[in-house]
Amino acid sequence: MIKLLLASLVAVSLIQAKELNTQMQEFMNTLKVEAKKDNPNFTKFDYARGEKIFTTEHIGKKGELISCVSCHTSNLSNKGRNEHTNKVIEPLSPSANAKRFTNVKDVKKWLRRNFNDVYNREGTAQEKGDVVTYIINKG
Ligand code: HEC
Repeated sequence: MIKLLLASLVAVSLIQAKELNTQMQEFMNTLKVEAKKDNPNFTKFDYARGEKIFTTEHIGKKGELISCVSCHTSNLSNKGRNEHTNKVIEPLSPSANAKRFTNVKDVKKWLRRNFNDVYNREGTAQEKGDVVTYIINKG
């Protein structure tokens, strides 16, 4: 029964994340299982919730107003600029930058760091899944 449930979860995630490589699909699937564990009413990751996470400003560690947009801009096909170091950041959208969302280790590392920059805490599984769903579908 559990095997069947897992198999159907994998099948659903394959349909929703068909442009992601296997490694990333597995990551998204792990987030989905965790999100469901945290919240039994969770059904799927949501673009609109992800957009809100990406665009809403919060007070950062230095008392500054900061959002994901501050460094990545609101056009994810454009280059951004790191608010803290002033270094150029290549586009976040996988349609503009083929390297994006190909290496799970990088994605995990930067989600952890960037959620901390903006929200002063790590994102939940649902928040991470929502924001990735937003970024990969916005184009
Ligand atoms: C202070 C600047 C800054 C802020 C704010 C910021 N980021 Fe980033 N982000 C970076 C940098 C720097 C990198 C790593 C350099 C690179 O990958 O080009 C990065 C990389 C990423 C990656 C890695 C993508 C990949 O495939 O490697 C993701 C995903 C990401 N950011 C999402 C977010 C989200 C979501 C937020 C808001 C919660 C956010 N970022 C806020 C600077 C920032």
